[in-house]
Amino acid sequence: CGIIGYTGKRDAAPILVEGLKKLEYRGYDSFGIATADEAISVVKKEGRISNHAGTAGNLKGKRGIGHTRWATHGVPNDQNAHPHTDCTNRIALVHNGIIENYAELKRELIQRDHVFRSETDTEAIVHLVEEEYAKKNHLLDAVRTAVSRLKGSYALLVLASDNEEIVAARNASPLVIGIGDGETFIASDITPMLEYTERVLFLEDGDIATVTRENVSIYQNGKQVNRPVELIDWSVEDGKKGGFAHYMLKEIFEQPQVFYNTIRGINDAPLPDCNRLRDPVTVVACGTSYHAGLIFKYLLEECCQIPARLDYASEFRYYPPPASGLVIGITQSGETADTLMALRLAKAHNCHTLAITNVLGSTVTRLADTTLYMRAGPEISVAATKSFIAQLAVLMQIVNRFRGNSQTETLLEAHKAIEDALLMDFSETVGLCENAQSIFYVGRGPFYPVSLEGALKMKEISYIHAEGYAAGEIKHGPFALLSEKTPVIAICMPGETYDVMISNIKEMKARGSPVIGIGRSGDTDLPEICDLFIPLNVATLFTQILTATVVLQLIAYHTAEKLGRDIDRPRNLAKSVTVE
Ligand code: G6P
Repeated sequence: CGIIGYTGKRDAAPILVEGLKKLEYRGYDSFGIATADEAISVVKKEGRISNHAGTAGNLKGKRGIGHTRWATHGVPNDQNAHPHTDCTNRIALVHNGIIENYAELKRELIQRDHVFRSETDTEAIVHLVEEEYAKKNHLLDAVRTAVSRLKGSYALLVLASDNEEIVAARNASPLVIGIGDGETFIASDITPMLEYTERVLFLEDGDIATVTRENVSIYQNGKQVNRPVELIDWSVEDGKKGGFAHYMLKEIFEQPQVFYNTIRGINDAPLPDCNRLRDPVTVVACGTSYHAGLIFKYLLEECCQIPARLDYASEFRYYPPPASGLVIGITQSGETADTLMALRLAKAHNCHTLAITNVLGSTVTRLADTTLYMRAGPEISVAATKSFIAQLAVLMQIVNRFRGNSQTETLLEAHKAIEDALLMDFSETVGLCENAQSIFYVGRGPFYPVSLEGALKMKEISYIHAEGYAAGEIKHGPFALLSEKTPVIAICMPGETYDVMISNIKEMKARGSPVIGIGRSGDTDLPEICDLFIPLNVATLFTQILTATVVLQLIAYHTAEKLGRDIDRPRNLAKSVTVE
């Protein structure tokens, strides 16, 4: 979910509406805003804010809060949408996170005659605040007492009709305050405030803050504390579509630049020292970031002879923890709950933790001992593209550092190969994929994770079932599914996997699947045995990995486009998953 608050000289509602559109990537099954004028006014609905921007944007008042939801407790409908209000309609509240003891709190509150109007865990909080506010008429204290009863994760914003302050509280869900000129913003991340200010401060877990248009006061354990003001270097343009039909396409096209910027940025950053990497290395990540981890594991082991363990962050705790050494968390957003949880556990076992993230000030940067930033700029489309390439840039630079060669220039050649791939035409491939029952992506060695990522892109945005497979494994089961309705996309680059990949392709063709081969230009076998051949101008292993990835992103994009899918906001997904 994403939350936003505004207080200042302007009408709050239009700012909240525009802000929520920017936060929609965090969840978009319902939305709502509340403003305070003399009284609290609320608009909240199932569906997207863009469909109701007019109604929501007309609310009166110079301060307000908003929410865009990714449902956890309670189906997406109007009642369960935030903000939630108390029985007296004096207080409105938005929440990102999960309250684990809400059932117990709810029972208790119902016994004291509170009337609940939703099935959410959040509503219990607003009733708790209501009770305390009625006792003391002090909003900060009321929120402080209410949150002391909560177990779980939360970023909260509380608005009252008769109080100038918006009160914010954070525990394990992010909150950023943006300081403008006579106006103040609070949100789950910086994207909605890029247009208004570059001065931000990040709340820490346990912080409670009061915010007015001129003032921010932050408290931790009842004592006032200072959080440093930081300057954001993302520009407003970074957050816009810039003439592209979708954010995803724009972000795919930004990749050569992102790759270049990240490589250059990493050169200036202190990398983990060699001794650390001589210790056991464990990598934890989710989704696309996990695929980057899989490529990293291959490269570390193959190119540097450093053994590495890789876990899905959500599985890490079920296996014996590493005794010591380095644990690397890869997370674009820096907020994925599973990855944060795994890193906390690693710290508890005295491991050194390194975060690789894209977002300044994100939770992971506070948690990890060291942070390396990728330089992807804001990634708005739910499907990760440029952040994956940026992760690979960071990880490949680490690999280079450890094999004692600074091949920055060679890496920068990859930038050219990516540019070439952006200009290719994939209409024939899309023709083979758009009516598929299922698509298999296969590769070996480092191209196995590339095929996993290609399949993930295809299923998340086109809704066609797709599976990435280690090419050798496909005969152990999936062969039963092969037919003319299950095309295979095979990544077959020169090198030790080449000959056996050619045999695998022939086996799959023999079982009726059309095969699209991706290989090096000049290859003479692939055009002969495949139904379609996508030739790439790629010399080095790194370039092959990067360019094949970009090709698979574009195939997924154009297939989803042909099918008329909601590419930037695929159904049921969210970009930043802040629950376990
Ligand atoms: C979500 C997103 C994926 C992303 C994953 C991990 O599932 O939809 O695109 O790869 O989270 O996100 P992270 O921010 O930790 O890289």
